[in-house]
Amino acid sequence: MRITETFNGNWTFRYGFEPAYVHVLQTGETVRLPHSAVELPYNYFDETDYQKPFTYQKVFDWRPDFEGREVSLIFDAAMADSVVYLNGEEIVAHKDGYTPFEARLTPHLKRGQNLITVKIDGSENPEIPPFGGQIDYLCYAGIYRDVWLKVTSPVSIANVKIETPDALAEQKTVTARVFFANPRALANSGTLDAKIRRRGGGDVAATSVEVDGNEATLTFTDLTGIDLWNIDDPVLYALSLKLSTEHGDDVLTQRFGFRTALFTPDGFLLNGKPLKLRGLNRHQAWPHTGYAMGRRAQEKDADILKYELACNIVRTSHYPQSNWFIERCDEIGLLCFEEIPGWQHIGGEAWQKESIENVRRMIERDWNHPSIVIWGVRINESQDSHAFYAETNRLARALDATRQTGGVRFITNSELLEDVYTMNDFILGNEELPGNNRGRVVLRDRVETTGITRPIPYMITEYNGHMYPTKRFDQEQRQAEHVTRHLLILDAVAGDGNISGSTGWCMFDYNTHKDFGAGDRICYHGVLDMYRIPKFAAYAYASQGDPKDGVVLQPVTFWARGERNMGGVLPLIVLTNCDYVDVTFGEWPAKRIYPDRETYPHLPHAPVVLDLRNVTPEEFGTWGRVWREGTFTGYVDGKAVKTVTLPADPVPARLEVAPDDTKLRAAEKDAVRVVVRVLDQCGNLLPYFEEPVTLSLVGPGRIIGPADHTLKGGATGFWIEAGDEAGTLDLTVTSRRFETQTVTFIIN
Ligand code: GAL
Repeated sequence: MRITETFNGNWTFRYGFEPAYVHVLQTGETVRLPHSAVELPYNYFDETDYQKPFTYQKVFDWRPDFEGREVSLIFDAAMADSVVYLNGEEIVAHKDGYTPFEARLTPHLKRGQNLITVKIDGSENPEIPPFGGQIDYLCYAGIYRDVWLKVTSPVSIANVKIETPDALAEQKTVTARVFFANPRALANSGTLDAKIRRRGGGDVAATSVEVDGNEATLTFTDLTGIDLWNIDDPVLYALSLKLSTEHGDDVLTQRFGFRTALFTPDGFLLNGKPLKLRGLNRHQAWPHTGYAMGRRAQEKDADILKYELACNIVRTSHYPQSNWFIERCDEIGLLCFEEIPGWQHIGGEAWQKESIENVRRMIERDWNHPSIVIWGVRINESQDSHAFYAETNRLARALDATRQTGGVRFITNSELLEDVYTMNDFILGNEELPGNNRGRVVLRDRVETTGITRPIPYMITEYNGHMYPTKRFDQEQRQAEHVTRHLLILDAVAGDGNISGSTGWCMFDYNTHKDFGAGDRICYHGVLDMYRIPKFAAYAYASQGDPKDGVVLQPVTFWARGERNMGGVLPLIVLTNCDYVDVTFGEWPAKRIYPDRETYPHLPHAPVVLDLRNVTPEEFGTWGRVWREGTFTGYVDGKAVKTVTLPADPVPARLEVAPDDTKLRAAEKDAVRVVVRVLDQCGNLLPYFEEPVTLSLVGPGRIIGPADHTLKGGATGFWIEAGDEAGTLDLTVTSRRFETQTVTFIIN
C-alpha cells in the first residue's frame, strides 16, 4: 500500500549555493521544515537579506519497502525557483513559490545512503510571478511548507476530481474523474474500488469500475440521506479510492462536500439561498518566520476569521495558501476566494506561461474543497491583457466547470473575461476621484466603474487598506474613523442586493517591501495587528455575528478626558450585536441607547453611537471637569448579557499571559501563540502601557523571535514552538511592575 510520511526532520541548511554542493553533504544548521531561510526582525529590516540562494540537504537511507516501487517527495511549497537534486543529479525544478511539486526519486535512488539537495533561490526573479515589479508583501524564502515522502506501486492514483452535479436534488450524484500516475508507461488495467463515507459517520455508498488506461470515471447515483455542506453546518464526506492492478495496490482518500455556490447579478447564493459575503483578505505571513508556519497557526487564522471576526469568506490574497488553512476552511464553514500569485505586474512570455501553469496547479490542488467558491485567475490589480486572461479563464473553466472565475482589478472599464466582476473599490476617502464629495462616497457606482450596463455578478474584493492605515496603538479618534470606514462599507454592501459581498483589506498587518507600509516595513492595514491582536476595527466585523455565537460589546474608546482633540469621547461608537445598550457616566442616570439605524440601515447589527443626538457634552465631553467611570450594559431579548466598565482612573492591575493552548505536539514545529496584555482594574487593555517584558523558556522548544519585547499599545504577542522531544516547556514572563508569570506547556 501507499506510504505517506512527513519528510520534514533533519535537513541541513546553509546560506548560498554552489553546484559542487549537490554531491556531498555540506556543513550547516540542522533544521526541521517548515523553515524560513532568514528570520527577520519584527520591523525595520532589510528584505534583501533573504533574496538570495540557499541550500537544503538531507541524507536518507534506502529502505526495503522502496523495492520495485515509485518513490517521490512532495514539496507542498518552497519559495522560490527550487531545483531538487538526488545524488548529484537534477531531478526537478519548480519556479512557483506557492504550489506543490513532486520530485520523482525512483530512477536515481541508490541502495544505502541517498543525498537530497534542494537549491532555493529567494531572489526576485523577474521571470517568475509575482516578481518583476513592486509588490506589497514579502515572499520569504525557504522550504516553508511540509515535505512528504510518498511510496506507491508503479501505477498509482495521482489525483481525483470529485463533482456533485445535482447537490440540491433529493437523490444526489457524485462523479469522480480519477487520474493515474504511470511514469513507467506500464500497461494499466485492473479495478478501482471507491467508497463514500461521511466524516465522523459511516459508509454512504460503494462502487467499483474496471480500469484500462491512465484515467477512470466513477459515478454514484441515487444517494439519499446526504447533508449539504453549509457555513453553519459544514458536513464533509470522503471518497476513498483503491486501485488494484497487477503492479500492486494504491489508495487515496479525498474529502469533499455537497453544495452549490453561485454569484449572480442579484447576489451570491449558497445552496440556492442568498448569502451576503462578508470577509477579509488574508496573507499567509507571521512575524519573524514569514511564511513558514505549520498546521496549528494556519488553522488558527481560519478560526479567527470565522469565530472571532464573524466572517463568512476569506480571500487568499494574493496566492494559493497552505492546505492546512484551506482544509480548516472546509471544516469550519468559511468560504474561500483563492487566486493565482501576482501583484499588478504582468511579465513577459515566460512569466505568463508560468502564470497560466499557476492556474492549473492551483485548481488541480484545490478543486475538491467545498469552501472554495471562486477562482481568481487574474494578476491582482493588473491591467487588461486579452490573450493572457482569455487563456487563464479558458483553462480554469476547462479544469473546473463547477466554479466561476473572478479577476481582481482596480481599473475601470476593464474587459470582463471572468464570470464575476471582482473589484477593489477604494473610493471611500479618495478625494481625488471625480464626483467624490470630500472623500465620503462609500462605493463606486457599479455601471460607471465597469462600463457594463447589463446586470453582472459583482463583488468587492478590497476596500480601505492604504486609504486609511491605522495602528492598534493609534489615537482613538483615528481608530474610530477606521472603524467607521469599515462599517460604512459593510453597510453599503449589505444594502445593495446586486453586490455579492466584500472582502476588506485586510485581516492583519503584514511585513512588506520598502516601497509600501509605514517606513518600518509594516503595512498597518489589518483589523488585527501582526500578532492577530484586535484593533477596534476588528469588532466592526465581530459585532455582525449573531449574539448567540458570542456577545460583542466594544466601546471604541480608551475612555479618557484628554485623548481626543478638544477632549471627551464623543461621538462614541459602541460596536455591539446587542439590541440596545444602557450607558452610565459616573452617578448620572443610565441612558438607554439603540443601534444607529439612521447611519447604518443595512448592517445586521448597527453600532450604538453616543453623540449629540442622544447625550450632552456635559455628560461625556468638555475639558476641565471631573472624569468619571463609564459603564456599558448590552441587552439581548430584554436580558442584560454583558457589561463593560471603563474606570475613570485606570491603573495597571494585571499582566495577562494568554496562550491559545498549552498542549503541543513534538517533532512538528507545532507553534502556539501567546498574547501578553496589561490590564486595568476592570480588565481593559491599557493602551499606552509600553514597558518591556522579558521572556524565557526552559525545555525542548523555542520562542520564535526575540526574548525581549516592548509592549506596543499595552500588548505584545509571540509564538512558542515545540522541539523534537516530548516534555514540558516552562515559559516565564518577567516585567518591572508585575509579578513574574509562568505558563507550562506539555509537549506530547
Ligand atoms: C491593493 C492591493 C493589496 C494591498 C492594498 C492596500 O491595491 O491589492 O495587495 O496593497 O492595496 O490597500
